[in-house]
Amino acid sequence: MKIQDVLLSDYGKASSIASPVNQLMTDFAVDFRDGCDINLGVGYVNERTIPHQQIQHACENVLAHPKKYRASLNYGGAQGSPNLIESLRRFYIENRIGGITEQILNNRDIIIGANGATSLLESITHLLPAGIVLTADPMYYIYCNDLGRKGFRVTAIPEDEEGLDAERLRAKLKMLGDEKAAIRFFYVVTVNNPTCTILSNTRKRELVDIVTRLSYEVGRKIPIFFDNAYSDLVHDSAVEPLASALCYDPLGIVYEIGTLSKILAPGLRIGYLIGSKGPFLNGIIQRTSDIGFSAPLINQEIASYLLDHGIEAQIQKVNTGYYQKAKQVKAWMTELLGDNVQECRGGSAGFYYYLTLVNVATDTTSDFFKFLTRTTRQEAVDGPPGSQHPKVIYIPGEHCVHSDGEMVEVGKRQFRISYGFEELPQIHTALKLMRSAIAYSHENSLGYHCT
Ligand SMILES: Cc1ncc(COP(=O)(O)O)c(C=O)c1O
Repeated sequence: MKIQDVLLSDYGKASSIASPVNQLMTDFAVDFRDGCDINLGVGYVNERTIPHQQIQHACENVLAHPKKYRASLNYGGAQGSPNLIESLRRFYIENRIGGITEQILNNRDIIIGANGATSLLESITHLLPAGIVLTADPMYYIYCNDLGRKGFRVTAIPEDEEGLDAERLRAKLKMLGDEKAAIRFFYVVTVNNPTCTILSNTRKRELVDIVTRLSYEVGRKIPIFFDNAYSDLVHDSAVEPLASALCYDPLGIVYEIGTLSKILAPGLRIGYLIGSKGPFLNGIIQRTSDIGFSAPLINQEIASYLLDHGIEAQIQKVNTGYYQKAKQVKAWMTELLGDNVQECRGGSAGFYYYLTLVNVATDTTSDFFKFLTRTTRQEAVDGPPGSQHPKVIYIPGEHCVHSDGEMVEVGKRQFRISYGFEELPQIHTALKLMRSAIAYSHENSLGYHCT
């Protein structure tokens, strides 16, 4: 008898095919040559920013003090370690992060995700019914891809230099008309990934105001989630300190998502959510229990210890490193890519630059991409089989912009590079190769026009 394969749900079917970026990164990783190929595509932090010794010291201290850090190798509670929650409260209040006060936190809860900020973002998709999600374009493609597979309709509004464009958002809401009732939530990354555009305080307040009014209009609270993944990584002192949207949230619709991945270590998998107490937050706590009971308790206690012992100096150190790299990479981009760059975003926070090239396509079928991944099939360009020239990977803009949005065309000339993971000499080599890739694209398009 013919037997059919496992019956998959719609989500199962959509997830059985790797997302384009996952596929790209996997293909590149398969035959990655250490010391030769250069990965400007990954969102990994720089290894040297991870405080290995302090983490080891924190772990020893946690295990040595079972009275404070109770049963740290056992299961944890689903809201998160009380020690870690207290440490986060102290960290926010004592450092006045985003202007947050004790009073603001008193009406709200802090909850710890099962596996970083990612698990909290994912949990939202289980608690809110499918419908429209509004976000900025270019968008955080990893989460937006997940939303799409879960049946949400992502609507991306182009950003300007202050973040998601409020004027365009108003126009979009007007256009939606009765469909506004299908809006489920807003997702705004405060230092955007991929662009590292910083959402200005004025714009943030404006967005909360728009969503508050919209909530009254549809007669239901519409949550706005601010993803603060990179908000502790503002390394340019000219940027005004980022205010927390929790400071101007009369209706209790603002939720802020934070992570210790970028300032301590992604491997700890500690992300947290701050928002108004109520059924939604209770649902997230239950969801954390459902998917894994809690984040590993030992990691939570280590994070708590690190927050209580020298986190401020650690953040300073991380930012000094990224600041220097950002400056150097910018200088090299100007020198090597020069007039070929139409627009460059980033450089003040996080660790990405997002570039728009003049007249050079960057998508996976382009000459630029083929040159850098050594897939031109011309030995003179790629190098001999078995010892090809160095490859460089980046995230093509085509994967960062919404496929039905206004940025599709320009997205084909854009790309994200990370100055986080790779060290400066490798980034310099990669930029020189990018200059050659641009020249190769121009030669090819000239050849094409002549024939
Ligand atoms: C915008 C954004 N949100 C969330 C995350 C993931 O954070 P976590 O490591 O806590 O899951 C990332 C990671 O790169 C990110 O870029």
